[in-house]
Amino acid sequence: MRVYVLNGPNLGRLGTRQVDVYGVTSYAGLVELCETTGRDLGLDVVVRQTDAEHELLGWLHTAADEGAAVVLNPAAWSHYSIAVRDACAMLRGPLVEVHISNIHAREEFRHHSVVSAVATGVICGLGVDGYRLALHHLADRRDQSA
Ligand code: DQA
Repeated sequence: MRVYVLNGPNLGRLGTRQVDVYGVTSYAGLVELCETTGRDLGLDVVVRQTDAEHELLGWLHTAADEGAAVVLNPAAWSHYSIAVRDACAMLRGPLVEVHISNIHAREEFRHHSVVSAVATGVICGLGVDGYRLALHHLADRRDQSA
């Protein structure tokens, strides 16, 4: 089963970016975590990051066309991008929204995600482990529907 793990703006700077908030795992470390977890679970995991909104939209369109599952950290776009939400609404496979930090415990402008209402579920505040948990959930869903 194909799973796209898609990451929005500034997440490529993990490991040096606000380590008190996002932790010390680098973006390369996150990619490795997702690929290793995917391999263990028999998932075909593709991990990507972009700072360009149109690029994320294109990846979501491809995922929609393929009926693929998506793990998405929309980063700052979570809070205001109706375009990202609309692209997520077109997905046919499950969508797990992940935030590394607990957005509800931070500034008020981070409390609301426009994506969450069209997500299958949301994981936030568990650090990069949220990605591993999201992949386990998708593998469990696959096994339950087999
Ligand atoms: C984030 C939280 C967002 O508010 C922020 O803009 C990010 C990362 C997280 O993973 O905790 O870039 O999505």
